Amino acid sequence: MTLRSSGAAQVKNSEVAWGEFDPIAYVDHNYRDLQAEDAEILHIVRDHFAGHFRNQGVGPVSGIDVGAGANLYPALSMMPWCDEVTLFERSSANVRYLKRQLDSYDPNWDQFWDVLCENEEYGSFLVDPRLQFRKVVKVVKGNIFDLERFGGSLRSVGTMFFVAESMTSSCREFTLGVKRFMRALAPGAPFAAAFMEHSKGYYTGKKFFPACDVGESEVRASLEPFASDLDVYRLKTEPKLRSGYSGMILSCGRRGNSDVAVPIR
Ligand SMILES: C[S@@+](CC[C@H](N)C(=O)[O-])C[C@H]1O[C@@H](n2cnc3c(N)ncnc32)[C@H](O)[C@@H]1O
Repeated sequence: MTLRSSGAAQVKNSEVAWGEFDPIAYVDHNYRDLQAEDAEILHIVRDHFAGHFRNQGVGPVSGIDVGAGANLYPALSMMPWCDEVTLFERSSANVRYLKRQLDSYDPNWDQFWDVLCENEEYGSFLVDPRLQFRKVVKVVKGNIFDLERFGGSLRSVGTMFFVAESMTSSCREFTLGVKRFMRALAPGAPFAAAFMEHSKGYYTGKKFFPACDVGESEVRASLEPFASDLDVYRLKTEPKLRSGYSGMILSCGRRGNSDVAVPIR
């Protein structure tokens, strides 16, 4: 991900050719090898989900990863408790990538599963993760702004990694994207959402994609109306391999019981 010159005009989500997203270049750059930032995220998210589901006594639940792109680790983090995980994604190229992963996902994802398994709730999951992935994961092409209309029941666990701020340069669309994600979750559902901090946009292959410049306060403000037990962390790991942003922000919490009305800026 590379810095672009400042002063660029605002780019809305609908103006971007998402079909030109190159999942192979994206995986090569970001997820071929486990980066320290993702390891830090995995530690926090796995302990959050494991802590929630431990002693819950509920049967299998349904989960959703919004804007899944070419990243399987959010789905892996929800998988042990789910009989269905929807990977909801707008780009046809990413949808094709995800569908290709269903039968037997690529070996690079094993290192992410291994970090999850350091927590005993994952480590004691006896089913082969590839079998479980094939059994429970469904890939759905769709637009986050239509998520409410996409329908189905509300999900009991959810993730959204590097999407709301990395799909538009409009702050209004960023806030709306977070709202649509949170409204797809049932009251009490645990969630994790990750954000690039102060991103200037990014390249995937040769194609540039826009971003909305957010920091911890914007992330907190966007989630707070819909969340309870909200934690917002700035990762300790400083950006190394990737560039064009100042750090990463991770938020974990539960879907609140009611929405506090906030105007979408
Ligand atoms: C920076 S990538 C993040 C991908 C992945 N979640 C990750 O953790 O690496 C942003 C993703 O958002 C998807 N996206 C963009 N606009 C979207 C929309 N309106 N609805 C759903 N997904 C969208 C893109 O296709 C892309 O996969």
